[in-house]
Amino acid sequence: MIEVTFYGHSAFLITIDGKKVLFDPFITPNDGAKSIDISKISPDYILVSHGHADHVADVEEIAKQSGAMLVSNFEIVSWFQKKGIENVHPMNHGGSKVFDFGKVKYVNAIHSSTLPDDSPGGNPGGFVVETKHGSFYYAGDTALTYDMKLIGEEFSIDFALLPIGDNFTMGIEDALKAADFVGTDRVIGMHYDTFPYILLDKEQAQRKALEAHKELILLEIGEKIILGNN
Ligand code: NI
Ligand code: MN
Repeated sequence: MIEVTFYGHSAFLITIDGKKVLFDPFITPNDGAKSIDISKISPDYILVSHGHADHVADVEEIAKQSGAMLVSNFEIVSWFQKKGIENVHPMNHGGSKVFDFGKVKYVNAIHSSTLPDDSPGGNPGGFVVETKHGSFYYAGDTALTYDMKLIGEEFSIDFALLPIGDNFTMGIEDALKAADFVGTDRVIGMHYDTFPYILLDKEQAQRKALEAHKELILLEIGEKIILGNN
């Protein structure tokens, strides 16, 4: 069973066989996510796609209070090590690693990755996670790229978490194409509505998804759904 809980923006807790994997925690600075108490999340892993503040804001606090293992690119992991986070696992593009919840591959993203203090955050990425209950793609912040076709060739993706807010990342049309490239009909939207630059017309987005024969899942903050095979 794969349980997906939305914490706003691009922050998700994905629970796989009881192992809690937190993606891109940006919760306390998000006015829409005031109902989420980060001291109660207690993840086993924190996966960070790139260095921007709207993806790393709560990493330090959650990592320190939970002891979760931070998994990200080498530069981001090194930056957090200097802040006293010891349980880390650095990766880089094209590399895979088996963890106890599944196998993670750090894949390409077209974006930028400067850390909050202007330190270089390496190159931005996304994650493909293969588990015995299914596989999914967490794109991070990215443009549409033909590299996503490689994901479709290599993996059998059951669902994809894709940015749809436009302006800084893909908009809905490119995200629907990305879903095609990676080979899934099920998209969980992220990176929309948090800021004025990325307001989403949800009706229009759902209409476009319908036309493309894709399922577009837009979760409320705090909402949880169950996906994956048993
Ligand atoms: Ni970003
Ligand atoms: Mn972002």
